[in-house]
Amino acid sequence: MSDIHDAGHAGPIKSPKQLLTTVILAFVLPVFAIIGLVLYVTAGNKPASGAANPELAVAHRIQKVGFVEVRDANRPLRSGEEVFKGQCAACHATGAAGAPKLGDTATWAPRIQTGFEALVHSALQGKGAMAPQGGGDFNDTEIARGVAYMADAAGANFPEPPAPAAEGASAPASAASGS
Ligand code: HEC
Repeated sequence: MSDIHDAGHAGPIKSPKQLLTTVILAFVLPVFAIIGLVLYVTAGNKPASGAANPELAVAHRIQKVGFVEVRDANRPLRSGEEVFKGQCAACHATGAAGAPKLGDTATWAPRIQTGFEALVHSALQGKGAMAPQGGGDFNDTEIARGVAYMADAAGANFPEPPAPAAEGASAPASAASGS
């Protein structure tokens, strides 16, 4: 008790060495803490490290995977435009990941020349950065309609594939039977 009293108002710092340590802790540490915070905040929008193609990495991240959906098996088939907007636009509206853009005639022309069947095959099986079915879970006829919609927007003249079997969809009766 009397010791503390003798030291007057010295507090916990009792030697120059302790003072030095305290000064360093009090001034240098916050600087590093701030640097750390700045790095943390600015790191948010950077592409994942090691991503050679950030656009592709983003496209992969925003692509829908694994979700549960309860649906009516007898629902009317989506039109090509609906399929495009729901699924394909993620890449094909902007050309993300090197996808041929909607309405970009020059990019589509050589692809259209390979024929409707080949394009549908690519869309169903996947090609390059495009996952099978464009990453979605539309049925094959709907995917084919999406293909026809995109190809037609770029100058092709593929008819919208009709619904299979005797479904009363409003498909054009004159649709050609493919190749
Ligand atoms: C994750 C992005 C992505 C999505 C989603 C996507 N595509 Fe693609 N698609 C691509 C890319 C990339 C290519 C170019 C592939 C290549 O040539 O290497 C491509 C190419 C194509 C081609 C041309 C294939 C060929 O043989 O030249 C068709 C047709 C196509 N997509 C249809 C679709 C349809 C239909 C959908 C929607 C159901 C869809 N895509 C969704 C990325 C995507």
